[in-house]
Amino acid sequence: MKIIKTVEEMRQYSRQCRQRGLRLACVPTMGYLHEGHASLISAARHSHDEVVTSIFVNPTQFGPHEDFERYPRDFDRDHRVVDQAGGTVIFAPSVDEMYPLGASTSIAVRGVSEPFEGAFRPGHFTGVATIVARLLLAIEPDAAFFGAKDFQQTLVIRRMVHDLGIASDVIVLSTIREADGLAKSSRNVYLTADQRHRATALYRALRAAEDAIHDGAYQKQIIDNAMHDVLRSVDGIEIDYASAADASTLATPDIFEAGARIVCLIAVRLGSTRLIDNMEFTIGMKA
Ligand code: PAJ
Repeated sequence: MKIIKTVEEMRQYSRQCRQRGLRLACVPTMGYLHEGHASLISAARHSHDEVVTSIFVNPTQFGPHEDFERYPRDFDRDHRVVDQAGGTVIFAPSVDEMYPLGASTSIAVRGVSEPFEGAFRPGHFTGVATIVARLLLAIEPDAAFFGAKDFQQTLVIRRMVHDLGIASDVIVLSTIREADGLAKSSRNVYLTADQRHRATALYRALRAAEDAIHDGAYQKQIIDNAMHDVLRSVDGIEIDYASAADASTLATPDIFEAGARIVCLIAVRLGSTRLIDNMEFTIGMKA
């Protein structure tokens, strides 16, 4: 596998691939890779000749009191995961490489970035949009793969790619979960055994929302209550939000129309660890 550390070498490599008629995909990550990342890499490899996995813990998407410093990092382990999943290139630039001295441009996406994560993590999505644009400009992939695990992030990236006319397809794949439903996440390593057990409440809350929708609920409040009831029944969980929203705009009307695509979004804190999860449904139908 090839390891690339500079934007210039990345761009050269990508251009050589294109000249040779190869199809190139990328999977942007912050490393500490798990089966969720691996599923994106292997799916990307399925439809592309070359798959660039970028590993970069992006400082600009972390708030001042967030976990940038302690975010888990293990390059050797990541190398093995990428290899096993069929990745062909790791792009692992330094912070100075991605944000050269004096860098003063950022990309702010209005609208879909504002509620939910945007409200709780000011500036987060500007950091995400800026680094993803920077990566796509360096890698110039035919397609970029993202996980539905970070649902709002996929809406922000789709919007940004569309608005800036970036010529890469954005492909979103479903969330990979542990056997008990907890969404795989690099941050799960922060959880104590007890918190890990409690963390299944997110999945159970989403399933409760599904049951409510299946039973015919179309009022946002009823769907939200189903999630809140499960989350509140577990000690030590602090809810940032647990809410149904329109799956393409994140609007939150009181009532959803039959056939509407919605997403139920949850963010909670368990001690000092913040976890997010989501599930999409169609109102009036089983998911
Ligand atoms: P990171 O959290 O490392 O996630 C990288 C990609 O893997 C994202 O598209 C994310 O949605 C996906 N992913 C994470 N957990 C998943 C799971 N359980 N199932 C399926 N996909 C999963 O998201 C980021 O990094 C960053 O914000 C990034 C886009 C790289 C920009 O810095």
